[in-house]
Amino acid sequence: MAEPRELRALHFKGAIVSPCDESPTLSPSPHSSSMSSLDCSIEEQDLDDTFEALQQHDRTFGSRDTAGSSLDGKGWPLLRSLVFSPATGLRSESSSIDLEPAICPGVFVGPAEVSGSGLVIGSKDRGFSGNCEPAVVPFHQVYWTGKEQAYMMQAMTSGKISGLGPFTGKCESHLEQVLGVPRALLTTSCTHALELMALLLNVGPGDEVIIPSFTFCSTASAFSRHGACIVFVDSRTDTFNIDERLIEQAITPRTKAIVVMHYAGVACDMDEIWRVASKYGVHVLEDAAHAFLGSYKGRPLGSLGTFGALSFHETKNITCGEGGALLINDARFVERALTIRSCGNDRHRFVQGSALSYTWRDVGSSYAPSDLLAATLLAQLELSVPITAKRGLLWHRYRDSLRDWADANSVVLPRVPTVCQPAYHIFAVLMPSPQAATGESSVSVV
Ligand SMILES: Cc1ncc(COP(=O)(O)O)c(C=O)c1O
Repeated sequence: MAEPRELRALHFKGAIVSPCDESPTLSPSPHSSSMSSLDCSIEEQDLDDTFEALQQHDRTFGSRDTAGSSLDGKGWPLLRSLVFSPATGLRSESSSIDLEPAICPGVFVGPAEVSGSGLVIGSKDRGFSGNCEPAVVPFHQVYWTGKEQAYMMQAMTSGKISGLGPFTGKCESHLEQVLGVPRALLTTSCTHALELMALLLNVGPGDEVIIPSFTFCSTASAFSRHGACIVFVDSRTDTFNIDERLIEQAITPRTKAIVVMHYAGVACDMDEIWRVASKYGVHVLEDAAHAFLGSYKGRPLGSLGTFGALSFHETKNITCGEGGALLINDARFVERALTIRSCGNDRHRFVQGSALSYTWRDVGSSYAPSDLLAATLLAQLELSVPITAKRGLLWHRYRDSLRDWADANSVVLPRVPTVCQPAYHIFAVLMPSPQAATGESSVSVV
């Protein structure tokens, strides 16, 4: 890192917060006619409408309960385990602290520790004197819209459950419309969408690919598996994104692409990245796994590079269990991408009815998801704007509620540049030391 501070983020995936100075402004209109820019401001009326839509779903399908506690009819499905105790001077009633209803009333927020499943808040072994087990902020929590099963049943009844089916088409049209990209292709994962990028650009031995030092392994492995040399560029300690000021010095005549990753759904400094990329004629590729419905200067994340990759893994804001999408922003790559996604053959033409048979044309692999997964995904995509809006409200609630604690403990809350509209994927905090991040030293909320 450029600064000595330890970059050890605690992720609250279901939560949301930011040091952005404005109040929550959110959500593009999925029906926006302007595809070149994402209108991320949200009017109060829009919010009312989105919440009304969600509440209607709650009424129709009942409250969702995936973490052992009920929704209590308030329609706050994503995050609800941060609890404050009177014992610590903080409060357990959600009404007074204005956080999610308590999973375990009386739990206090004490030394935080990271567990496999999330962030443990409060611990008896660490001097906790509360009257019940510590609460855990789940690492993530799926928001089921209630329509997934009906759509899956429809796919099963139709018998068309392999890739390139009708639900796949609907999901792809939805993504193209919302994000304003020329073509979106569903893939079996974000990792596979990144691998498709490498194949489309013929990445191979002798090529260098620049990636951020702080990212998920797939950002690198998708390119290194084709023989490229990965060149790491350090990450910023405020947004945790690639440090755009360090990219130019990493460019060589062998650089093929700069892969950016919009950490937590907050955009990288794309103006500077574009400046460097166009100066040296290299591709910008977006790992937008965290960033669906986030934007940079009003433009949707994933639509800003030659290609973008989305993830619909279980842990993401919008999910079908395992899944992803390749966003193609340069139409010249569409035909080849369709071929590579289908094992290197032109089955897509056969499916469209423009060819009587299909045959092997190119390299490729089996990157198209089953239409059963696409059916699940469509239900999620249809409510993706209100789901993101709700995450945004929770994120701001977290930020507001943790501000004093963060100040008192030298913890840095997330920062969002004013030109960025977050996707509210992760609420990450920068801890003052590795010990504090793992709970070995006390960073208390009191
Ligand atoms: C930044 C980033 N890129 C890529 C991936 C891989 O996504 P998938 O599981 O859909 O392959 C992840 C998964 O968490 C991620 O966080």
